[in-house]
Amino acid sequence: MVFLYSKTKHIEVENKYHKETKHPMENQRKNHVPHCLVLPYPLQGHINPMLQFSKRLVQQGVKVTLVNTISIWNKINKNNLDLNSIEIESISDGYDNGGLSSAENMESYKETFWKIGPKTLSQLLQKLQSSNNPVDCVIYDAFLHWTFDVSKSFGIPVGVFLTQACSVNNINFHAFEKWIELPISKSEIILPGLPKLEASDLPSFLYQYGTYPGYFDILTNQFSKIDQAEWVLVNTFYELEPEVVDWLAKKWRLKTIGPCVPSMFLDKRLKDDNDYGISTFGPNSEACIKWLDNKPKDSVVYVSFGSLAGLSEDQTKEIAYGLRDCEMYFIWVVRDSEKGKFPKEFLDLSLEKGLIVNWCPQLQVLTHEAVGCFVTHCGWNSTLEALSVGVPVIAMPLWTDQITNAKFIVDVWKIGVKGIADEKGVVRRETIKDCITEIMETEKGNEMKKNAVNWKSLAKIVVDEGGSSDKNIVEFLNELTLR
Ligand code: UDX
Repeated sequence: MVFLYSKTKHIEVENKYHKETKHPMENQRKNHVPHCLVLPYPLQGHINPMLQFSKRLVQQGVKVTLVNTISIWNKINKNNLDLNSIEIESISDGYDNGGLSSAENMESYKETFWKIGPKTLSQLLQKLQSSNNPVDCVIYDAFLHWTFDVSKSFGIPVGVFLTQACSVNNINFHAFEKWIELPISKSEIILPGLPKLEASDLPSFLYQYGTYPGYFDILTNQFSKIDQAEWVLVNTFYELEPEVVDWLAKKWRLKTIGPCVPSMFLDKRLKDDNDYGISTFGPNSEACIKWLDNKPKDSVVYVSFGSLAGLSEDQTKEIAYGLRDCEMYFIWVVRDSEKGKFPKEFLDLSLEKGLIVNWCPQLQVLTHEAVGCFVTHCGWNSTLEALSVGVPVIAMPLWTDQITNAKFIVDVWKIGVKGIADEKGVVRRETIKDCITEIMETEKGNEMKKNAVNWKSLAKIVVDEGGSSDKNIVEFLNELTLR
């Protein structure tokens, strides 16, 4: 198989493909359905995009086995699982009865997982390789970098799946290569393919070097052996960050294949695909949508900080009163683990204008006509979702890549404003209220809404037939079947 790096060659091959073949599966060896094993890191924000990518593969006739930890599968109500023909298998992280939340801390979780994970993955591959449909390719979350060696010991080609933006990947790659000096001493950072960044725009594990060493390790080690991987698949799209994609594509066999968002919100080519399909929290769909149905157009602020991060008590209080003081209705996702931080009197005060839920079908909420803006922590999935459905945002990043995503949201993609924190790191209620008013009631806010809607159109184009991400998926399948 020939791998291609330059954009010109890339285009030549796409044209060749379109001339010589109609569908990649026409190349498949007789009676052999290509089989991909897909392994996300056990977190909602990692399972979602890799599951969506899997659905696209299944649509093209590939067999997919989705692997996750025993503890993750235990959290999921299997009766509600709707994964078409995707098969499910398990490995162990060493914490079968609770996963990360039952570990002493992140560092010990990682240490145990990194010992037990490779062994149990090896056992699984042993089983699958002696079945009548062995695995042709392991697509693994770059967080689980040891999968490379396990897969290669079975002679299986690999696709490294990067769940964060290429801009963030490039910064973390520079840290991995030690091309960025840590701790950071400069106030401005200039890196290839990226706009000039303030040091404080870098992911938190670099700017605040030494915080969460376990995560720092995972994020930088994503790039170990990445240059030897047969494919590097990234949940982003070319048009969103072209310069940095071009730069990284000179180093790795990179293909942008996103946004990995349920198809019914984009190209609608995957019938009934209107939800990710796996939730480690129970969705509260009916209540949210019914509540929204009674609200006027663009009158609701949707607030969510994703599946992992926790807010301080002080920050929770400021958001609560910021929402109370603004003119809008709100839906606020507060996971059960966060409920204790609530100001006690707030629940009574907010009943009239707000709905607080443990979890919700985020995309259905964002696309409801009553929702006018999104207060988000800027996790990469939430960011891509806002871009894909054309909703302007108020960026309140907390840590890791969220900080850098917020910079791009505001200054590059221009779809939102940032809630600036005070010297204690807390975004105060007046700031939150002002940001909401700016987005919802000013000409500047209107411009951001227009920009978001433009990104939405582009996001649909790239995953639809012939779009940049669609072509890359087709090219991946073509290469896989020709091996
Ligand atoms: C984590 C990191 O925090 C993030 O920075 C990184 O980019 C990916 O991994 P998470 O914090 O959960 O993810 O945020 P995000 O990436 O936004 O993913 C959350 C997912 O959960 C989104 O797909 C969102 O649609 C979904 N969600 C969130 C729901 O379906 N319902 C909710 O109520 C809240």
